[in-house]
Amino acid sequence: MNFFEYRNQQLHVENVPASQIAAQFGTPCYVYSQSALEHAFQQYSQAFAGHDHLVCYAMKANSNLSILKLFASLGAGFDIVSGGELQRVLAIGADPAMVVFSGVGKSEEEIRMALDAGILCFNVESIAELHRINAIAGDMGKRAPISLRVNPDVDAKTHPYISTGLKDNKFGIAYGDALDTYKAAAAMANIQVTGIDCHIGSQLTEISPFVAAVEKLLTLIDQLEAAGIKLHHVDLGGGVGIRYDDETPIVIADYAQALLGKLAGRHFKIILEPGRFMVGNAGMLLTKIEYLKSNEQKHFAVIDGAMNDLMRPSLYEAYHLIQPVLQTNATSRVYDVVGPVCESGDFLGKGRELTIDTGDVLAVMSAGAYGMAMSSNYNTRNRAAELLVKGDSVKQIRQRESYQQQLSNELACL
Ligand code: LLP
Repeated sequence: MNFFEYRNQQLHVENVPASQIAAQFGTPCYVYSQSALEHAFQQYSQAFAGHDHLVCYAMKANSNLSILKLFASLGAGFDIVSGGELQRVLAIGADPAMVVFSGVGKSEEEIRMALDAGILCFNVESIAELHRINAIAGDMGKRAPISLRVNPDVDAKTHPYISTGLKDNKFGIAYGDALDTYKAAAAMANIQVTGIDCHIGSQLTEISPFVAAVEKLLTLIDQLEAAGIKLHHVDLGGGVGIRYDDETPIVIADYAQALLGKLAGRHFKIILEPGRFMVGNAGMLLTKIEYLKSNEQKHFAVIDGAMNDLMRPSLYEAYHLIQPVLQTNATSRVYDVVGPVCESGDFLGKGRELTIDTGDVLAVMSAGAYGMAMSSNYNTRNRAAELLVKGDSVKQIRQRESYQQQLSNELACL
């Protein structure tokens, strides 16, 4: 299903022309299709419907409160990685008992906050963290529910920066240490062992690494059972990729079938932590062309969006399709699409064939995941506005930041 399409040479988000949104709310701005968000969530819930499961949306991909509220209303729990993300769960009135807390560096304050809120589970990444959680839970007179994030050492076949399940990654507990760590956890007075967890990487386009990871977890689960440690849930993380360019993405029904096939006859609740898949294709960044310029080598389209708005191209050399919101039949040229930030790495696309003019609005597609969420104020640029479209309606779900807001925490005290 396509919620972003050209009608009469005008790019529409659902029923609304993108040019109209840019004119009304200014650029750069992120625009999301609510139907696309709902569709993504439903693909997961339908595919896993036959099995006890919980989709914990990995909100690091996009943590706008309205988007979180939408997913919560559809039945999602959340995967969080910081105290700040927990505050978002609480702010929208979602149920903390549907929250898993991942991340290698949980602080004391964050652990306290999560125990206080009553989260479903800590995904623990080291023996040191286990000791810390045990001590804090004891201090608070609580028992902390935990799963161990095991590093299954499988190759996710994705970009090295977003691959997390290999031996040389900082994530998880080494496979060979997992059994002993579980035994240690089971012996801790204030720890309740409830599950097992893995996350092998992001933007995966093949199912086989997920299957390899589950197989390794099942071997471990059998060893745990033999040692008298019973688990209630298996958390398979996130990582399902989307189409940015010409990738053949995973079909969720096939992914579910492969995983459920491996777990057949076992009575674990399945937890999933998709991030990118839920929001990636549901969002785009609108940006206006400030200048066209050329040198001996190249043509440049200088836009009002930049690496601070969408960091993925600079950071991972990630590809995002860039297209004008109004198509014309004039002659095209090949451009590097670059922002105003003072870095050569500030580009959103290179070598793109485009038919464009100064003042035109461009849509940078598939920017719903890790777009706004990774934005910054570099060069003291205000962070973009965010809009949510459903049918004919456009709602502003985040105002454009103001200079006053940016400066408000700083003190010029000398
Ligand atoms: N669970 C854990 C423990 C994670 O670390 C992540 C992502 C997810 C779930 C969600 O993964 P997803 O379904 O979104 O692939 N900034 C990078 C992606 C970093 C992913 C970090 N971890 C990018 O823009 O491609």
